[in-house]
Amino acid sequence: MSTISSNKIEWWQPVIGTTEYELTQDVLKSGFLNDGKLTERFEQEVAALLKVKYAVAVTSGTAALYLALKAIDVGPGDEVIVPDTTFIATANAVVMAGATPRLVDVDRKTLNIDPKQIESKLNAKTKAIMPVHVSGRLADMKSIMNIAHEHKLTVIEDAAEAFGSEMAGQSAGTYGHIGCFSFSPNKTITTGQGGMVVTNDADVHQRLRQLKDQGRQYRGTGGDDLHPAIGYNFKLTNLQAAVGLGQMQDIQSRLSKLKSIYKTYERELSGINGITLLPFDVDSGESPQWIDAYVENRESLTKCFEANNIGFRRFWFPLHRQLPYQSPDSDFPIASQCSEHCLWLPSSLLLTEDDLSQVCQLIKSLIS
Ligand SMILES: Cc1ncc(COP(=O)(O)O)c(C=O)c1O
Repeated sequence: MSTISSNKIEWWQPVIGTTEYELTQDVLKSGFLNDGKLTERFEQEVAALLKVKYAVAVTSGTAALYLALKAIDVGPGDEVIVPDTTFIATANAVVMAGATPRLVDVDRKTLNIDPKQIESKLNAKTKAIMPVHVSGRLADMKSIMNIAHEHKLTVIEDAAEAFGSEMAGQSAGTYGHIGCFSFSPNKTITTGQGGMVVTNDADVHQRLRQLKDQGRQYRGTGGDDLHPAIGYNFKLTNLQAAVGLGQMQDIQSRLSKLKSIYKTYERELSGINGITLLPFDVDSGESPQWIDAYVENRESLTKCFEANNIGFRRFWFPLHRQLPYQSPDSDFPIASQCSEHCLWLPSSLLLTEDDLSQVCQLIKSLIS
């Protein structure tokens, strides 16, 4: 395994194994660099891991969300329910499809969309609900699916941060009608940039295939092909899939490592006043993408991390505080409060027990 080395305790590092080198070399030698056989193999491996019928590889998580919306004909005049706490791509994908995101505040205990607040945001224009599994922690899918069923809405899971995270044997991204994943560099597996859309619906699958490849149902020569629908170019290349397939080889150890990092933080930091880990149910299969915490005095902790060469990431500003989605804080009290207090602790797959102990000792000495 290799990575860019430094003395810093990193917040996150992509980990590249030898198989990635071997497979990318094979692709380069083959001369077929486009979306091809390796892309198909990557899709099949992801579908098998998530126990879902269809997986369609695309260029990014944002593209995955956009194509999922297009596949169910979301467009101008439609509204989509989106949590206020998320990476901005969730809402941007809705806008890209021509629709309007309707923001909903989040649950303080999970930072995921609060199902109790969804119904008041529904109206005749609402087409879909897009829950986000923040940091890999599953949203309350039972309640969300009940609301969707009652109001005849489609659920598109933004599982960009939840690849391989499960709850009692069911993977994030497979509860709703469509699930979307990201393979950008700070995810459990990466293809540089890349994404995957998964579904059990044959019609949605067919639409996704057309949408990602210029409306073609079947790959032809690029010459006299038939294009029965409008589509675009969101193909994931063999080169990227080669990296993805290499990364998939040790997916179980990656997920186990993330769970064990969480368990160490939980053991070391539980009961410490001033910092509260957001909980993961790792024993039921939930896998953290990154370890998140609510910190009373975030600034003093981030200063201390900076002084000690320890990586971290502050939480996103809630969407309603970003210029394109601006709304008053009073409509989103939980998201507003959490964004000022939450951060991601070092969560890299390469962290050692020593690194974690150093981080926890520092937190304890600062806070107590
Ligand atoms: C919740 C969420 N949604 C969507 C995305 C977008 O994925 P990508 O960067 O692959 O386009 C991300 C990426 O980090 C994300 O965290």
